[in-house]
Amino acid sequence: MKKVIIHYFTGTGNTAHSVKIISAKLQAKGYDVDVRQVIKDVLPPEESYDYHIVAFPVLSWSAPVIMKRYLHRMPVSNGAGTAVLAVNGTIFHKGNLVKGYTGQALEQVENILRKKNYNVFLSANASFPDNWTQATNPPDKKDTEAIFPLGEAEVLCFAENFMDEKRELYRCGRFNRMWSGSIAALFGFIGRRALGKFYVADENCNGCSLCAKSCPVHAIKMSHKKPHWNFSCEDCNRCINICPERSIQVSGPLLIMQLVINTGLIIWAILAILKYVPLWLAGETSGWLNTLLSGSAFILTAEIILITIATFFIHWLSFVPIDAFFRLLMWIPGVRRYFGRSYTKNYRRYMAPGFNVKQGC
Ligand SMILES: Cc1cc2nc3c(=O)[nH]c(=O)nc-3n(C[C@H](O)[C@H](O)[C@H](O)COP(=O)(O)O)c2cc1C
Ligand code: SF4
Ligand code: SF4
Repeated sequence: MKKVIIHYFTGTGNTAHSVKIISAKLQAKGYDVDVRQVIKDVLPPEESYDYHIVAFPVLSWSAPVIMKRYLHRMPVSNGAGTAVLAVNGTIFHKGNLVKGYTGQALEQVENILRKKNYNVFLSANASFPDNWTQATNPPDKKDTEAIFPLGEAEVLCFAENFMDEKRELYRCGRFNRMWSGSIAALFGFIGRRALGKFYVADENCNGCSLCAKSCPVHAIKMSHKKPHWNFSCEDCNRCINICPERSIQVSGPLLIMQLVINTGLIIWAILAILKYVPLWLAGETSGWLNTLLSGSAFILTAEIILITIATFFIHWLSFVPIDAFFRLLMWIPGVRRYFGRSYTKNYRRYMAPGFNVKQGC
């Protein structure tokens, strides 16, 4: 019997649903299927398998960071056949179906696996309802019911191609790889963390702690019956979508204040560095050292390094101590109400039908 393992991450259950379909299809054809959900502290198995399937939701044209870290930890293979599925976010816009876009996500995962000697022969997309409630109003019931069968059909086709060992690899093109790779890198490094920091539980939060218990990377801690988001968020959007009170919002005031503080401080730091660094380097030394330090190449290098350090420091400042100060203020009920103001109050919430966070798929 051929042994297959499916490794997957999911935020709101679309990927879990896809895995369920693949697993059922493969089992019906006599495959021995293991399924592993990637959450914090779960490591890849050392055991050897004939085949691997990797499935993930596309987050900002990338696989989730936790998924990539997991894949980097996979043992070196002896050439096991491997297939990769990217589950994207699809919507209806003015009555037209707009399929999600995967960018370089599949190729990036393929590269990680190839370096470990996995024989990636198949990569494909599946279109499921968009769950990015922070940015767009998720599809309503009618649209969800229209999109879901499309995704299911693509997943079934993926499973068939996998069993036929059909060689078909998704390519997005060099230009798209470049821009989507750059945005994906920024998202993985700072974007996902920053977006996690704009969540607040508004005055409707009853302290049930479901959000904290459900977070796949344990990025939420409960304190005095209120959730607090740390800096390790994957931005999978599970918490905002799962809260039974629809109490989790992207705080409008927090977003604006942090944006103003962050941008203001960064502009101020850049101007100060550009003004003072040349003066300081030229004035502090004499003779040949002065000639070297006041050279334009040296000054430019010093300015770039200092601006990079300052940008990191300012991000830390706004997302750690300044954020902690705002959170402290939120203990005052009126202030929490104010910070809970958000466009997301009017947005729907989305979870894949039938998805059970505890059971996975
Ligand atoms: C932060 C974030 C970024 C996303 N970026 C993309 C994207 O670049 N392209 C896309 O097609 N869908 C994108 N989506 C939508 C999800 O990939 C999509 O809804 C997926 O089906 C969710 O799967 P899950 O339910 O298994 O988490 C994004 C969702 C989130 C939360
Ligand atoms: S799930 Fe909602 S109601 Fe429950 S603790 Fe989290 S924010 Fe509050
Ligand atoms: S905090 Fe919310 S969005 Fe971030 S990883 Fe946890 S469940 Fe996902």
